[in-house]
Amino acid sequence: MALWGGRFEQDADPLFKRFNDSLRFDHRLLTQDIRGSIAWAKALEGAGVLTSHARQQVVEALAAIAKQWGSDSARIVESGAEDVHSFVEAELIKRVGDLGKTLHTGRSRNDQVATDLRLWVRDEIAARINELRAAQASLVALAERETATVLPGYTHLQRAQPTVWGHWALAYFEMLDRDVSRFADAAERANLCPLGSGALAGTAYPIDRAALARDLGFSGSTTNSLDGVSDRDFVVEALSAGVTCALHLSRLAEDLILYASGEFAFVELSDRVTSGSSLMPQKKNPDALELIRGKVGRILGAHTAMCVTIKGLPLAYNKDLQEDKEPLFDSMDNLSMCLGVLPVVLDGMKVNREACLRAAKGGHSNATDLADYLVSKGIPFREAHEITGRLVRIAIERGTALEDVPLAELQKVERRIGEDVFARLSIEAGMARRNVEGGTSPERVAEAVKGAKERVR
Ligand code: ARG
Repeated sequence: MALWGGRFEQDADPLFKRFNDSLRFDHRLLTQDIRGSIAWAKALEGAGVLTSHARQQVVEALAAIAKQWGSDSARIVESGAEDVHSFVEAELIKRVGDLGKTLHTGRSRNDQVATDLRLWVRDEIAARINELRAAQASLVALAERETATVLPGYTHLQRAQPTVWGHWALAYFEMLDRDVSRFADAAERANLCPLGSGALAGTAYPIDRAALARDLGFSGSTTNSLDGVSDRDFVVEALSAGVTCALHLSRLAEDLILYASGEFAFVELSDRVTSGSSLMPQKKNPDALELIRGKVGRILGAHTAMCVTIKGLPLAYNKDLQEDKEPLFDSMDNLSMCLGVLPVVLDGMKVNREACLRAAKGGHSNATDLADYLVSKGIPFREAHEITGRLVRIAIERGTALEDVPLAELQKVERRIGEDVFARLSIEAGMARRNVEGGTSPERVAEAVKGAKERVR
């Protein structure tokens, strides 16, 4: 039964019905829709529209509908209802008869769906924040296991300066921390109740909107009814926070995919998150990480889709807005999976300490330390840079590390170099000197691990 048959003479074209109906995806709003309807029934009682007895009957029936269908909302698709709102109303009428037809008094599906979706976004953001916290905990655990394990640091994917694994893990910890704060921020603005905005101009019944908002756990109600029914900023913001988070996960995944390759061999991924090749028996592919890296495409696409749907949309509600749900649902589902899989990858990953150390020792990544040493001998940095460059060339020609070039050879280029240079060229010495706040010295990283642990507790 459609909610709007009266002024129509002909039935909807079957193709149009399929095109127009949203139940096949908005069934996911079932529990939110029922929560909203229960609150609306109470608000109608407050406005003198429903007697206390009628309200009680309606609320009981709505609770029964939630109980029957709530755990597996996909089953309601077979009902053939237009959308989740029509479905709930039809079910209500089945249970309480004509009384069920009074619930929609003073309400429109426009303020109803805006309310449902805000409730959904609020719940989902809370879940994403929990998942982010769990992923952060795995990063901290990795940082704790490998606090001082040497890892070559790269710029331009060229070995630059040695760092430690603890520092690497906490870099991503920081990114995810900002993701949490972006999600929390988005949730705060989403947490306003549009119900009572009616179709667009505000309900004509004396609804206590503040009490209604409170009842649904919102921090307040939306201020303008036209805005209340047509605003989807909260979807854009949730997707935007999701995109940024997915971008971070994608970068992390790419690092580990590289590090897991035979060429790097810095880590070994667990069998539990890798797959084999149907043809090449030796292969162990980092599928979990590749999917984490790849998912950002559809999530970014969803954000773009939502923005473009809103662009140029006249006030107030338009059916275009029904297009808000699928990209949002899909993004949140996929982000949730990425965040869920990441700890499994991190917890099962083995760091190959020797390979990391070997790589950090190669590539002349202590050249900056040599330049710094020359600075300590009174040579201006720019000159020290030039001299070090020449020494690096000599090392390359000899096929050795800087610290393996004999002192006499070093002194041929710069006589102020002394025996004490070699102590400065060790990886340990170079890292220990990077003892600034936020730096990679093992001492600082150990402190940072402690601090990070506090923050996710
Ligand atoms: N299924 C619709 C949506 O998701 C519900 C609102 C319909 N409102 C309307 N005036 N037809 O946006």
